[in-house]
Amino acid sequence: MRAVDATLGEVAGNQLQNLCRIVGIDETDPVRLLGDVLSATRSRPLSQPPLWPSDVADDNTPVEFSVQFEDNGSRHLRILAETIPAAPGPAANLQAARDLIDALAGRYDLSLDRLHSVQDLFSSASPQGKFSWWFSLIFTPDGAPKFKVYFNPGVCGAESAPHLVEEAFARLGLPEAYSTISKYALRRGELDRLTFFAVDLDHSPQSRVKLYVSQHAARPADAEFAASAVPCIDPGLARALCSVLAPGTEVFTGRPLISSYSFVEGDHEKPSNYSLYLPIRDYVPNDAVARERVQQHLRMHRIDPAVVDEVIDAVTDRRLEDNAGLLAHVSLRLSPNRTGTTVYVSSEAYGGTPRRDR
Ligand code: TRP
Repeated sequence: MRAVDATLGEVAGNQLQNLCRIVGIDETDPVRLLGDVLSATRSRPLSQPPLWPSDVADDNTPVEFSVQFEDNGSRHLRILAETIPAAPGPAANLQAARDLIDALAGRYDLSLDRLHSVQDLFSSASPQGKFSWWFSLIFTPDGAPKFKVYFNPGVCGAESAPHLVEEAFARLGLPEAYSTISKYALRRGELDRLTFFAVDLDHSPQSRVKLYVSQHAARPADAEFAASAVPCIDPGLARALCSVLAPGTEVFTGRPLISSYSFVEGDHEKPSNYSLYLPIRDYVPNDAVARERVQQHLRMHRIDPAVVDEVIDAVTDRRLEDNAGLLAHVSLRLSPNRTGTTVYVSSEAYGGTPRRDR
């Protein structure tokens, strides 16, 4: 239960502390970083409307949590966030994101070369689209927090997105990447849309550069084909995810499936990772059904299904039958010799996904 005059910082902070406990992470860094990224929205009472209509979550909460389970048993906790300044607007939000990176660079050992080589492409004096730059804050039980920046390929208008992405890959030493992805995930014209281009800000050789494509009205076979861009993985697992989380769905006509590709050190024309994001909230009557299906998926990947309840209990005490959207997305990450599942859980600080008639 939440106090009448609770702030976003208090509610999200409490959820984050609970999630840290489950994943076994010291809460000091996460809590401080949540405050940094919430910025002007932190001390805003939830009785007032959101300061900015962030697209991070359906109810405009500017943060979303996720817990990543590797099939080797390791776990990570992540926060997807948009930083919103006191006087928000497309240009002010972009500036706030840049300022946050500067502040983080003063405190953590960040690798900023990739960011610096592409940031001008994804900047604009009058940014377009639903956001300019988002952040992922990634916490592990051991080790310093890691950061990822997501850029909006449509920041200068949707028509220039392909050029920006192609140029960004080229600058990062991946001149073939765009044409590879085009062949596997940009085949259906307007239905396949460039959604996020992301770079990691850490020194690790893993997951350097990532491109996300929203695949509207896609079939499970489209996801399977998209996965087949990556050598030495089983693309059939993408189709299996669809059939467990959205059984009977032939065409994903609600929120789109999203395919992403990561290029890590040593990758040239082919990526070494494919992830499929399934917006489960649009394909279930409510979160009780979503919970069951996510548990079934975890069982198939030999991950203890009880973690789903721990994650849910960390963020809410509402009845799961009352709405869908607490479990927002589920993603499956496929690399040679490694798979992982990530469960995205909404804060619902501003009421959660608007109820549909079902
Ligand atoms: N809310 C947006 C959406 O659902 C963006 C987003 C938030 C998202 N978390 C995500 C997209 C996780 C993919 C996966 O599309």
